[in-house]
Amino acid sequence: MAPRKKPFIAGNWKMHTTRAEARALVGEIVRASRALAEAEFVVIPPYTALAEAAETIAGSPVALGGQNLFWEDKGAYTGEISGPMLADAGCDFVLVGHSERRQDFGETDETVKKRIAAALRSRLRPIVCIGETLAERESGRTWDILGTQMAGGLDGLDEASFRRIVLAYEPVWAIGTGRTATPAQAEETQAFIRRQLEDKYGKEASSCAIILYGGSVKPANAYALFRERNIDGFLVGGASLEAASFIEIAAEAIKAFKEVK
Ligand code: 13P
Repeated sequence: MAPRKKPFIAGNWKMHTTRAEARALVGEIVRASRALAEAEFVVIPPYTALAEAAETIAGSPVALGGQNLFWEDKGAYTGEISGPMLADAGCDFVLVGHSERRQDFGETDETVKKRIAAALRSRLRPIVCIGETLAERESGRTWDILGTQMAGGLDGLDEASFRRIVLAYEPVWAIGTGRTATPAQAEETQAFIRRQLEDKYGKEASSCAIILYGGSVKPANAYALFRERNIDGFLVGGASLEAASFIEIAAEAIKAFKEVK
């Protein structure tokens, strides 16, 4: 059985916040994080606010992430941003394969794999997102889809590299819809993901893997979700744009963490 880990709480701000808004939001999260030492915090602002966020988190336990990266380190790729640039901007993490990138920007398992390699080259920890659409779930293809996304994205990834990544299960039908997976649905899927990882990397590595849940996570559902064994934290969208709700999600997860060791 996977051991309980400190709640890993990441906020994906997507295409929101000016620099001033980012500074204020990160400032509040930094202040609150001092009293919530049992959680790990990551903020993932838009590129334009990374510098403000990096200054504001300095000396705090809050870590910084980018929302995407290109697979080359530099070159004539107008509009792209690279791993070395994100590392230079103060990032420790980077999202890879978010469903919005897969659906709207042509991301595939093959490009996910290339971005994971690029992130690791720059000593960034990729947060690799996978998830099925509503049509895929309703037609009974969830396991196939997740299995394929994992096999393709993690193809050729050795165990040492695997230990650097974080996985995020985000059912597409739960993102921004207010329709959260039930704790039982999320747990069933996350347990499936961990079993797949166990087949590939063995019991110890898979039980150490951090597997996040994302999709309409709110203060009201965070406690029940985190009580599930295979949910190690959250990738939060909408509710991460307000410091109070993001912090409350962390507090709820910590409450569950202390109860279900
Ligand atoms: P919501 O929390 O707004 O559903 O977004 C989830 C998400 O996509 C985080 O990456």
